[in-house]
Amino acid sequence: MNYKIALIRGDGIGPEVVGEAVKVMDAIGAKFGHTFEYVDVLMGGCAIDAVGKSYPEGTAEKCKECDAVLLGAVGGPKWGHSTEAEKRPETALLSIRKDLGLYANLRPAALRPALAEACPLKKETADRGIDLMIVRELTGGIYFGKRERYATEDRGEEAADRMAYSEKEIERIGRRAFELARLRGKKLASVDKANVLETSRLWRKVMHKLAEEYSDVQYEDVLVDNAAMQLVRDPGQFDVVVTENMFGDILSDEASMITGSIGLLPSASIGDTAPGLYEPIHGSAPDIAGQDRANPIATILSVAMMFRYSFNLPAEAKTIEDAVDAILNEGWRTADIAKPGEDVISTVKMGELIRAKL
Ligand code: IPM
Ligand code: MG
Repeated sequence: MNYKIALIRGDGIGPEVVGEAVKVMDAIGAKFGHTFEYVDVLMGGCAIDAVGKSYPEGTAEKCKECDAVLLGAVGGPKWGHSTEAEKRPETALLSIRKDLGLYANLRPAALRPALAEACPLKKETADRGIDLMIVRELTGGIYFGKRERYATEDRGEEAADRMAYSEKEIERIGRRAFELARLRGKKLASVDKANVLETSRLWRKVMHKLAEEYSDVQYEDVLVDNAAMQLVRDPGQFDVVVTENMFGDILSDEASMITGSIGLLPSASIGDTAPGLYEPIHGSAPDIAGQDRANPIATILSVAMMFRYSFNLPAEAKTIEDAVDAILNEGWRTADIAKPGEDVISTVKMGELIRAKL
């Protein structure tokens, strides 16, 4: 098969890590008989510099002509927090999610055996293993509700952000999560704040209806404050965790931290139609940009997710994941995952070693 891939190399270390991931894709293509055609798409801080806006006209259209999108990283302190939306890199991220209908954000957090020591939790906790997948709703809730700023008579300025969820939005993310749980450990935790929020009470009602339909999946409700605590107390209890947009934003950062290796974690954002978007969860790391020091593994594992979720090519995905594990097991480390005093290798070298294992 021939696949067309949109590449949003983006800012900071984005171009370097995407560069290595593309070489891995080509190597997989040669091995399994696929070809990949790449289309560069300008978005993020680099687009602000080049054309004055982070999300130039036609960005979504260009992506829609492709089978999948691979994104490196966008943003950085250089672009600050402009008061003009089109000059903020974050605007591009939110816009592309909405325009491509990417309502399901899959963020796996797994402790790779070779890096178990990097886990900041107690050894007994790490020994139980961590292998969970956060399924974050990505195109609704407070991220996309009405924002207001207005003057009041006696309380100074006031601001408001509206959080809304419809049954339809909850049901489609819920189904995705139940389906994923079926393919994994058949356990699903739905995180909400139903003791306070009306959106959460509706969320829970819809999830309970789905839980009856997916009765082979072990289901539980977890309040978000408790979920935050359980993630550091006993993350091994979780398999798939589904939650709304902002809770998912926060909990997925927490989940990434407990694996101790944010440079290793990929993510997928998918909707009902192609293209899906795949990206490492780490940021643009401007402090090490252009120095050949970034860890390309999260982006390479994002390609594995692309093969699995967009192209239904599980063997190709597994080949990449196994190659990454083999290299880590041999002890190769980029600076972010090295222990003090350990030898470190470059971005390009890490990419080369992984390709040699495919
Ligand atoms: C993420 C990021 C974004 C989000 C920001 C950069 C808008 O934190 O992808 O988790 O909040 O969704
Ligand atoms: Mg975030």
